[in-house]
Amino acid sequence: MSTPAPSKKFKNPRANFNFQGRTCSISGVGSYVPERIITNADLEKMVDTSDEWIFSRTGIRSRRVAASDQYTSDLATNAALKAMKMAGVKAEQIDLIIVATITPDMPFPSTACLVQQKIGAYRAAAFDIEAACSGFIFALEIGQQFIMSRTYNTVLVIGAEKLSSIVNWTDRNTCVLFGDGAGAAILQNRPDSHGLLTACMGSDGQKADLLSMPGGGSRCPASAESVSAGLHFLRMDGKETFKNAVQAMNTAAQESLRRCEIDITQIKCIIPHQANRRIIDAVAERLGAKQEQLFVNLDKYGNTSAASVAIALDEAVATKRIQRGDLILLVVFGAGLTWGAAVIEW
Ligand code: ACO
Repeated sequence: MSTPAPSKKFKNPRANFNFQGRTCSISGVGSYVPERIITNADLEKMVDTSDEWIFSRTGIRSRRVAASDQYTSDLATNAALKAMKMAGVKAEQIDLIIVATITPDMPFPSTACLVQQKIGAYRAAAFDIEAACSGFIFALEIGQQFIMSRTYNTVLVIGAEKLSSIVNWTDRNTCVLFGDGAGAAILQNRPDSHGLLTACMGSDGQKADLLSMPGGGSRCPASAESVSAGLHFLRMDGKETFKNAVQAMNTAAQESLRRCEIDITQIKCIIPHQANRRIIDAVAERLGAKQEQLFVNLDKYGNTSAASVAIALDEAVATKRIQRGDLILLVVFGAGLTWGAAVIEW
């Protein structure tokens, strides 16, 4: 198998290791959002809010909400089938399925196992990871390790969420922000591309309380009291989350650029976690990025947590914002706290 030629445009950090020409490319992407649209005008009828407040503070106009009989594994499966089609990969070729989610169908078995059954990928190992909104980059990096080590040839990575199932629809502080959806990518060794060049990941458990869902785990198992206290809903300190998000996303993005010895002007498309337009703009300003480098679709979908950059990546490819050979930057932030960034040669 031939080795991709060294690039004069950037340094491949993976070249420091003896991967013997092995690369980890994204050979297919796909996404799925549920049909039901909830607009800001719809939310005005549910809580004390306004389209003006939501749009000016967040950039969100609408979000998708899954049907009551549609679960995270269904959203994930729809996205996965599209990614497999684009990559030309059959279910029996898949070696590993990783689903990043904070809204699994149930605590166990994993949503990845449910997806395995739904797509018929019976050869694959399957597990979930949980890094909140950073989950897709964490899953990409895990999948990449298996590809580069030659353990597996084809890895299906999915970010999928049914956040509507953990949102308190009477709390205006949070219910306006989130939406449901899924995005997927097929990772493979492909000799014609450098693929995923680097991925940075970071965490700070000291700030775990900023964003959490306290109920339903071993600390606070489901009970009539826990449910009536609303402990099974997502909670967030919005202001502190905002500040931490801007700082961590900037740091992660800078680190990933540094590793590749490139500057922001060489990035064709920046795909940030789609939580808040003001966070995206603040990060772009710190990075010295131009507006035209940013890919933003949060106006349509709100914050879909682990699915956010995966859906955006699929849309950026579908709309030809990303072409083969382009350098792209993904940058994320979420509960944990967690954050990360990845540079990919498409
Ligand atoms: N409609 C109208 N008023 C509202 C609404 C609403 N939907 N929500 C809050 N308000 C009110 C508040 O009650 C507050 O009123 P008060 O001053 O009388 O108390 C006022 O608006 C101002 O609230 P702030 O918190 O100052 O608003 P802010 O400008 O900080 O915006 C927001 C809030 C949008 C939540 C912002 O802080 C934010 O985006 N934070 C980051 C969220 C994020 O990035 N999450 C990512 C991770 S998510 C994950 O990992 C699952």
